[in-house]
Amino acid sequence: MAILQAVLLLATVVRVFAVDKYEGTGSTGLYWDCCKPSCSWKEKTDWLTHPVQTCQKDDSPLGDFTAGSACGQGGSAYVCNNQQPWAVNDTFSYGFISAFIVGASELDWCCSCYELSFINGGLQGKRMIVQASNTGYDDPKRTIFGVGAPGEKDYADGCMNRYDSDGGGFLGKEGRPLTKRSDCESLPRPLQQGCFWRFDWFLDAFKPNMTFQRVKCPKALTDVTGCIRKDDATFNASTGGVPSVAPSSRGESFGTLTTVLILAAWALSFNV
Ligand SMILES: *[C@@H]1O[C@H](CO)[C@@H](O)[C@H](O)[C@H]1NC(C)=O
Ligand SMILES: *[C@@H]1O[C@H](CO)[C@@H](O)[C@H](O)[C@H]1NC(C)=O
Ligand SMILES: *[C@@H]1O[C@H](CO)[C@@H](O)[C@H](O)[C@H]1NC(C)=O
Repeated sequence: MAILQAVLLLATVVRVFAVDKYEGTGSTGLYWDCCKPSCSWKEKTDWLTHPVQTCQKDDSPLGDFTAGSACGQGGSAYVCNNQQPWAVNDTFSYGFISAFIVGASELDWCCSCYELSFINGGLQGKRMIVQASNTGYDDPKRTIFGVGAPGEKDYADGCMNRYDSDGGGFLGKEGRPLTKRSDCESLPRPLQQGCFWRFDWFLDAFKPNMTFQRVKCPKALTDVTGCIRKDDATFNASTGGVPSVAPSSRGESFGTLTTVLILAAWALSFNV
């Protein structure tokens, strides 16, 4: 019993210092592939109350979280179109992201919410609160939050298949990049709102950097995905201020150590 307590205490101490996966700096990007997001698989309900909602081809909600992705797996699950970003005012938007945080894993980010403050790319002074609905594996060495907004590379032709259209030549793996707001008018109508956001609010910025800080998810976001993490209540809601964050590289070793210690505590708890 004493050993168990010691291990749990140590795990708690490490958890307190392992702040890096909850705040830091990173870069952003845009993506929209129409595919089932990674945090919408039923297996992930160990740490989620409910997976991220997915939709059928016609955008009606899909109840079966074991359904395969329409991208590549011949399944019936697509991303829901209400998971596009929206602006509340000139300096604040909500959205959903494909996350990758160095030193962390899906276990940490699926359905977590983050407050982002942009630091360059002409977006200084703008903030977003986003929920991680998906996982990005483009570059495992960097923390990148891909904001889901239509008009980006549709790597698996998911959008082309969903709408039986190449969206004026902008959809599909061979699609050309959008360069101006009026290009959004060529996309299928359900994809236009987030595309306009990209030009109107995001100013078509190219991979701007940001500071991020984990916050308790606002209802505005969880009402869309239906997904709330079981640890969400241990985080504070955004206070609307700009987070002050010092970059650091401790994340990886502390994250691994925490996992080992918590697993050890678990194993021991079966023997007492
Ligand atoms: C924009 O909306 C956010 C979130 O509601 C709020 O905190 C902020 O004060 C608003 N800014 C302006 C300029 O209205
Ligand atoms: C933005 O992020 C990139 C990639 O992580 C990095 O190389 C660059 O130094 C960052 N720029 C600023 C201004 O933080
Ligand atoms: C939440 O806010 C309270 C009061 O400001 C603070 O004491 C606490 O440390 C914060 N918790 C987290 C996880 O940041």
